[in-house]
Amino acid sequence: MPGPIWSDLGVAPVARRGKSPPMLGFHRDTQGRACFSGTPLGNLLAAAGTGSPAYLYDLDAIEQEARAMVEAFGDPRHEVAYAIKANSAASIIRTVVRAGCGGEVVSGGELDLALAAGVPRERLMMTSVAKKDAEIDRALAAGIRAIQIESVEEIPRVAARARALGSVARVSFRINPGVEVDTNAKVATGHERAKFGIGLDELGLAWERADAEPAVTVVGVGAHVGSTLKVVESYLDSARVVCQVAKARLAGGKALELVDFGGGFGIDYGMGPLPSPAAFLAAARALAEQEGLGSLGLVAEPGRSMVASHGVLVASVVQEKRVQKGRWVFIDAAMNDLVRPAMYGARHRIEPLDSLPSGSAVRVAGPVCESSDDFGEHVLAEPAPDAVVIRDAGAYGFSMASEYNGRPLPAEIFVRGGRVASVSPSPGPDAWVARRLGA
Ligand code: LLP
Repeated sequence: MPGPIWSDLGVAPVARRGKSPPMLGFHRDTQGRACFSGTPLGNLLAAAGTGSPAYLYDLDAIEQEARAMVEAFGDPRHEVAYAIKANSAASIIRTVVRAGCGGEVVSGGELDLALAAGVPRERLMMTSVAKKDAEIDRALAAGIRAIQIESVEEIPRVAARARALGSVARVSFRINPGVEVDTNAKVATGHERAKFGIGLDELGLAWERADAEPAVTVVGVGAHVGSTLKVVESYLDSARVVCQVAKARLAGGKALELVDFGGGFGIDYGMGPLPSPAAFLAAARALAEQEGLGSLGLVAEPGRSMVASHGVLVASVVQEKRVQKGRWVFIDAAMNDLVRPAMYGARHRIEPLDSLPSGSAVRVAGPVCESSDDFGEHVLAEPAPDAVVIRDAGAYGFSMASEYNGRPLPAEIFVRGGRVASVSPSPGPDAWVARRLGA
């Protein structure tokens, strides 16, 4: 087996000796079986008893990832606020909180979940362009670190809710820095046509409005310009604008507690290594210090980079189909379980579960009645394996899953120390039938 392919598959290059710790995250054992912490995923699936499709997550790898990010920030005033939308499983939230992270939420539901899963209220940021009054009320009642304001018009609404509750709202301005970053248009959020953030043109008015509202205190300034960023420079382009705005505010004699540079660090989906999350965070910290903002709390909001590589979706092969133009392999996972390929044209590596890929490429698709329910071409094996592993599915996989085509949500299996720590079973098709019958 040539070296580069071997290492691309995450196989330990040298045999482990003595008591060296087991390899965390996705890797292959010496027999080529896909594993977490040395345990074949097939064994974990059998132990969980859920059948497929099922997501599996390596909580140890997620914890290690989260700790590396917290260490890269290297100061308790700074906050790695995990973007819960990436994966809202409580086991994962608890894991990253234990590693020292806070959280970023985008709805009342995520807020309630984060609080119930143990994210300290003073370490929570809430973002959304259209928070309903009930959601603002929940954030105010909980006393979170900051509600991120995304428009001038939102300021009097938040102030009115704070007055009604007899409190003062801690808010942070999410600005739209007007920068274009190299990412899929569907996840670019910091350009002038995006719905997100307070545009730089409106900023003067926003400060005026907020300063005139005794029920509002602006504690921070932030931005989030997009996801799957491939270079640190894109992150800094936006962060520099945030720093300019923060400096101008401070120069005007006003106080600030934090600057928030958002999330968006890309991961290696098989196209080659990217800068580590720690590299993004270290650069962010250095920039804030260079800009003379080192005394403020620095917040980052990574989601994907904390969980994507440490989660997989395992599916069974249901049917093969040979046609003149090639070979289809149909699996029991579909766009309802993992929508990223259908929605963004994203590529997730698909490989045999219990052996290394070999042979020629086949087209892998699910059973959903949409042509976009197509995971693309992948090298599996000849004949097709019984089961496949869809890699890097830990972020925006289950959290975007739906029940389209009467397909129940998939199971989730949480792994610690190479063993099944907990299982969230699929509700199964009967639950869906019963609910739709009641509709
Ligand atoms: N902060 C804010 C305000 C965000 O909108 C997001 C993601 C994040 C932080 C976290 O970004 P991350 O570090 O995960 O890139 N469903 C898409 C990604 C959408 C991202 C939405 N906002 C996907 O599957 O690629």
